[in-house]
Amino acid sequence: MTRAVCPGSFDPPTWGHLDVVRRAAAIFDHVTVAVLINPSKDGLFSVEERLDLLRATTTQFSNVTIDSFAGLLVDYCRDLDIDVIAKGLRAVSDFDYELQMAQMNSSLAGVQTVFLPAAAEHSFVSSSLVKQVARYGGDVSAHLPPVVHAALTQKLAEQE
Ligand code: PNS
Repeated sequence: MTRAVCPGSFDPPTWGHLDVVRRAAAIFDHVTVAVLINPSKDGLFSVEERLDLLRATTTQFSNVTIDSFAGLLVDYCRDLDIDVIAKGLRAVSDFDYELQMAQMNSSLAGVQTVFLPAAAEHSFVSSSLVKQVARYGGDVSAHLPPVVHAALTQKLAEQE
């Protein structure tokens, strides 16, 4: 059984993230979507809210589970017996940092990384860009599952 992890901040999850999860779930026996608990960086959504949004948007995948982790990703992989890190690559600009992390994770613990190229329609979308555009009233509904878009709209309204 080959287990993979799709790690990330997911603040909030976008269609781009979910496309990577969907494709990883078609390749690997089991996929854990793991939200990084980062004490040095406050997100717009709490980790619990992100987990809820991921659970709500991945119900169709029987081999996907949602979790959070703190500390090194390779330690999390070892604890859960995860063999592969699956990451989406949107553009060449992602590649430098992703390659660096992949090589570090391989050197630390021999954990391999598989890159899944983003679908063209998601290649310019990131959680931070979506939040920035939404804050200024731009329409980001095409880039988010409806439940995530509703949560983002509500969250930004609460902040006003
Ligand atoms: O969605 P992001 O913010 O690009 O995800 C980055 C993430 C969570 C994959 C990366 O920051 C990570 O793995 N963090 C855990 C700490 C760690 O293992 N750092 C060393 C990476 S080589």
